[in-house]
Amino acid sequence: MEIVAIMGSHRNGHNTEKALDFFLSQIKGKHEVNIFNVNKVRVEPCKACDYCIPHQGECVIKDDAMTEIYKKFETCDLLIIASPVYFSALPSKIKAIIDRTQMLYNLKDKSIIKPKKLVVIALGGAPHYPRQFQAIDNTLEWYKKTLSCDEIGFVGFSHTDDVGTMKNKKSLEALEALGDKVNTIANKMEK
Ligand SMILES: Cc1cc2nc3c(=O)[nH]c(=O)nc-3n(C[C@H](O)[C@H](O)[C@H](O)COP(=O)(O)O)c2cc1C
Repeated sequence: MEIVAIMGSHRNGHNTEKALDFFLSQIKGKHEVNIFNVNKVRVEPCKACDYCIPHQGECVIKDDAMTEIYKKFETCDLLIIASPVYFSALPSKIKAIIDRTQMLYNLKDKSIIKPKKLVVIALGGAPHYPRQFQAIDNTLEWYKKTLSCDEIGFVGFSHTDDVGTMKNKKSLEALEALGDKVNTIANKMEK
């Protein structure tokens, strides 16, 4: 199985990366795993220039990490989005990756985009409040459709500023269960 994970926190090694690492550790067997850490890849914001409408399958920006990320978005079997909320929304670096997906959204023939499973891991520093992760869910609505995603799980970690990822038993258990689900899917794919 080809796995792509986006680590969306602007801090390396903090709650988001820990949650993502924990989830990846639940996935057994041999897989190709590509992790894109937003702090380590350069992704320019979408210019909204519409170049990708007449130039199908091409973005006007050709010299940043999206060239590789587009290819992985097209071919992966499992996509993992792990991100904190900043002002209840997705932080700017991961949002840039999502906005650049406009190139794929504008494809008239989307058959090159492989149907894939999606797992979302969302984190918020505050104790849980209604709509803490709502904006993430809303933002991902068209992103999921564009990338032909079937969302198999959305796990939230609240109160991370006081209760670190690895102390949140309930959410860790939810990630474990989701890991089992992914393992079952991967086993079926191999048969
Ligand atoms: C600019 C900024 C805005 C934030 N806004 C929110 C928010 O609206 N709701 C919330 O629950 N936490 C908010 N937080 C807290 C982060 O979601 C929390 O610290 C999270 O654990 C950050 O991920 P990290 O630990 O991987 O860096 C905000 C943090 C920052 C830096």
